[in-house]
Amino acid sequence: MIQKPPGVEDIFPDRIDRWNHITDAARQAFRLHNFREIIIPIMEYTEVFARGLGDETDIVSKEMFTFEDRGGRSLTLRPEGTASVVRAFVENGEYNRLSLNKFFYMGPMFRAERPQRGRLRQFNQFGAEVFGSEDPYYDYEVIAMMDSVTKMTGIEDYELLINSIGCPRCREEYLAKLRDYYHDREEQLCKDCRQRLNKNTLRLLDCKVESCREIRSGAPLITDYLDDECREHHEKLKKYLTTNNIAFREDPFLVRGLDYYIRTTFEFVADRLGGQNAFAAGGRYDQLVEHFDGKHTPAVGFAAGIERMFLLIEEKEILPRGIDAFVIHTGGETLARALEITSSLRKAGLAADLDPNGKTFKGQFKRAERDRAHYCIIIGEDELKNDTCTLKDQASGIQITITLKELMEKMQA
Ligand code: HAM
Repeated sequence: MIQKPPGVEDIFPDRIDRWNHITDAARQAFRLHNFREIIIPIMEYTEVFARGLGDETDIVSKEMFTFEDRGGRSLTLRPEGTASVVRAFVENGEYNRLSLNKFFYMGPMFRAERPQRGRLRQFNQFGAEVFGSEDPYYDYEVIAMMDSVTKMTGIEDYELLINSIGCPRCREEYLAKLRDYYHDREEQLCKDCRQRLNKNTLRLLDCKVESCREIRSGAPLITDYLDDECREHHEKLKKYLTTNNIAFREDPFLVRGLDYYIRTTFEFVADRLGGQNAFAAGGRYDQLVEHFDGKHTPAVGFAAGIERMFLLIEEKEILPRGIDAFVIHTGGETLARALEITSSLRKAGLAADLDPNGKTFKGQFKRAERDRAHYCIIIGEDELKNDTCTLKDQASGIQITITLKELMEKMQA
């Protein structure tokens, strides 16, 4: 028997309702916030991620699925979406002429990580990116959008962490202080952190090893080094969140594992997930477009891990979405009428179904129940003769007889 490789998953129909519960909520939030979908390639030239994410990041240095095509060019399965969206944005003249763009995407990402609960090699993200504004309103908007998706899916036990890691100008002084602090404690650091010390100092704050965590607790805080503009940006974001009742906690050590961030970083975390506790994360990346040879375009975005959100709603009862109406008939002419009604309902944008071979009322009512129909529309001989139908509200059991014209009006109301 051939088995799947480690760190990839099959999602069978019994889990699909739960899966769609998450992606439907995301799509709804994207629509409500006026984000438009972009479909980006699954593979890119390796350069896209090396340049975009930073050579020293864990993702680029050890987690990419990279291979050569037949012409000897290096390709990589996308480990995330942001670098690809930026590459596409710069490459496409039409969109980068617009002053503001709000994109969203969904799909599989690939990282050669050690598989464990909530950490896969092929996982799915939905994400959003806003191009063209420095305004902290947009930092707020992407956070608020993810917050609304989280609430829509029914996840309650989570926390939003935010931070500002400043801009390269104010970060320089901070990094020098941080390096001094850690150099003084080099002996006590784990092996990885000793390497990070000179290469990627900020990532020292991200280490999960207990002894490094302890050292971190006394480390200088980036928020004490922000220049006036970065501080003001951060304050405005917090004000937007507070005014709009979005609870958050400031975490001055939230630096994230990607090099492109500037100013805002944030994570949605849930303790229930264990070690891999972030189910969504993002931040601002005002210099990435220029890094890809585009004109200066500030940007901010986030991505959520669908499988991690899936774990958080695993125990919830998610009922499949029902149809609007199931049309019941007694065969012959009543079937022809039932077909007409079903097709009119579908044309009007309502989900409707019938059983063309339905023999008994009982059997058809059973189907309606299974399909979680909101209404049953019954066409018997009397209804056929009088151009009426019997409309039964499945929840209350109340039945009324109405004309077909009234039916369409009621169903569309
Ligand atoms: P990220 O933090 O690398 O950010 O990933 C975002 C989310 O993807 C994580 O919070 C997690 O839920 C999920 N995720 C990441 N790796 C795995 C994995 N191995 N298995 C399962 N789920 C995973 C980004 O990808 C950035 N592109 C976010 C962003 C967009 N920043 C600005 N715009």
